[in-house]
Amino acid sequence: MEELPLLIPNRGWDPRILAFRSADVVTVFAVLTRRWTLLVDTLYSRAGALELARRALEAAARLHGGPAPPLLVINTHADWDHAWGNGVFAGPEAAFPAPVLGTRECARRLRQAEDAAELESMRAREPVRFAGASLVSPTLAFEGALEIDCGDLLVHLLPAPGHVPGQVVVWLPEIRHLLGADAVEHPMPFVQGPGHLQEMIGTLEAFRRLAPLRLLACHDGLDGDPGLIQRNLDYFGRVREAARAHPQVDPASSGLDLLLELPFEEFCGGVPQEAREFYRGAHLKALRAALAEVQDEGGEPRSGGGLRRWPGTPGPGGPPRLGDGDSGGSGP
Ligand SMILES: [Fe+2]
Repeated sequence: MEELPLLIPNRGWDPRILAFRSADVVTVFAVLTRRWTLLVDTLYSRAGALELARRALEAAARLHGGPAPPLLVINTHADWDHAWGNGVFAGPEAAFPAPVLGTRECARRLRQAEDAAELESMRAREPVRFAGASLVSPTLAFEGALEIDCGDLLVHLLPAPGHVPGQVVVWLPEIRHLLGADAVEHPMPFVQGPGHLQEMIGTLEAFRRLAPLRLLACHDGLDGDPGLIQRNLDYFGRVREAARAHPQVDPASSGLDLLLELPFEEFCGGVPQEAREFYRGAHLKALRAALAEVQDEGGEPRSGGGLRRWPGTPGPGGPPRLGDGDSGGSGP
């Protein structure tokens, strides 16, 4: 069965933001502005990306009572569920040609052999789900933060490392809405490796300083509740406490969550049965990362989680200044 994106009912966020859910896999967004019809991520199949573009353009035409503003595509990061629909917008098969924005690290990944091999193997296993998926790099690559003046709405792309290097999130400072990509997630965001826990916590702390009124992420309950940021921070706080209390445990041990007395079952409320093994893996990765911190540093994880500020964000809503040189601390 084809997985086409379905519009999620608006639960109190700005009506210019449309959330499209594809199966139970991922949510991507359209932001309807006067200058641009923004797409935030492109799903993972050609049919899905085509449907996303059509529905966003139709909604934009309805909103503006005339032709839809042109498409502008943003990749938050290069993972398959976010960027494998890029071929609908750029490259030889583009049905809706549009600029595609992404970080240099995102662009690098979409050119690398490992991601091409991942696409081939996933498409071989699930040919319908990944039909027409392709690796097409952003056509406009940037480093650090970027500001887009959309005429009636400012859009800031802010570095948000921790899940994968080179990830950005979309911050709308005038209405204080945050599209948090995979940096914030229920029941926990996925930390790729030991070095990334510090960055993940730093990113969540930076989100908390932004104090969004509404938060929408790509893998959350889609209720707009910014409280998920604090819940994720509390989770990582408990992970670090558990690691500190058991500094001698081998991170490669099986049953690590039980050895550290922080069983996954404490966190799986509201997680569909079919997603539990994925999030169990996420929990174990977080525990391993916290143990690595403790063991690297003789028993004490670094405090503060890499406190960082985005350029020009001294408080809620402050716009980033271009050219401040914050590369987000990730990527080559
Ligand atoms: Fe994702």
